[in-house]
Amino acid sequence: MKIFITQELPGNVEELLRKKGFDVDVFRKNKIISKRELIRKAKDADGLISLLTNTIDKEVIDNLNFCRIIANVAVGYNNIDVNYAKSKNIFVTNTPGILNDATADLTLALILSCARRLREGDIYTRGNKFKAWMPQLLLGMELAGKTVGIIGAGRIGSEVAKRLIPFKTKIIYYDRTVKRDFEKLTGAKKVSLNFLINNSDIVSLHIPLNDKTYHLLNNENLKLMKPTSILANTSRGEVIEEKSLIDILKKRKIFAAGMDVYENEPDINKELFKLDNVILLPHIGSATVETRSKMASLAAKNVISVMLRKKPITPV
Ligand code: NAP
Ligand code: GLV
Repeated sequence: MKIFITQELPGNVEELLRKKGFDVDVFRKNKIISKRELIRKAKDADGLISLLTNTIDKEVIDNLNFCRIIANVAVGYNNIDVNYAKSKNIFVTNTPGILNDATADLTLALILSCARRLREGDIYTRGNKFKAWMPQLLLGMELAGKTVGIIGAGRIGSEVAKRLIPFKTKIIYYDRTVKRDFEKLTGAKKVSLNFLINNSDIVSLHIPLNDKTYHLLNNENLKLMKPTSILANTSRGEVIEEKSLIDILKKRKIFAAGMDVYENEPDINKELFKLDNVILLPHIGSATVETRSKMASLAAKNVISVMLRKKPITPV
């Protein structure tokens, strides 16, 4: 049985699969595989291990002649037409849970970097401008006493909230349903989206991208943010109407934004590069040695399970 992997992965995934007797084919170039190449390579594969950068739409799925599983090496699966895959009896799996800590850590790093202006401070110091301690140099925002609005109180949102409580913040959240466990954990109350945006000093996004969350933050509601507030996005870029965010950052209608994801990544709106009140990261939320190895390994285990006619471990 053949397994096609759309990029080299960390850890011992290939070995794991080969030991089980699978024929493993890997796209080894240091770029994203094109749709044409993906179809050519995967059309006779029994299993496909994909990345969030691979668009697995109807056209691709229609060309998967033998495939029984698409194992995405990500918790987000907005790159896959899941319903269509299911209609063709192909399992789709993701990597939930194991990346919560890494992604929550990075979210905290973004929030703290924005609050204390780390990027500006680093540039200032490297520019040899630090000549004396100054009472008004690079004044930032303190976290203690501030309200944090978590949008999407799921696995990662919960870990972010847990990390922020010791910083003496108050948590509120928005989600599509009441999350009792989250409320117990954080003492937070569910509020409307507009209330959260209007009353938070820090807004942190942790919802998946789907039809309902596309441009959830947009021209209308971004205007409700406090001028002193911080916005952190480690979910998906398309959840924010990026041109409106750029507009309020330019006009200094919020304090700062920390972004790990972009509306058209990896094509980044160049206007963002001109702004000093934004921190830009290249989608590295889960990028730790430990987590990326676990993600790859979980994807491989999902494939093995399905190949052995067992249920997948983490089906979508
Ligand atoms: P999760 O546990 O499913 O949490 C998402 C939360 O959002 C859930 O509480 C969910 O509610 C809620 N939600 C879903 N649709 C909603 C809607 N239309 N309106 C309001 N709330 C909604 O997911 P997670 O594991 O925390 O991951 C969240 C997202 O983070 C992923 O989908 C991925 O896009 C992103 N991510 C990014 C990175 C990175 O590298 N930057 C790393 C990991 C994950 P239900 O419980 O009702 O579904
Ligand atoms: C990363 O963005 C993921 O969804 O795992």
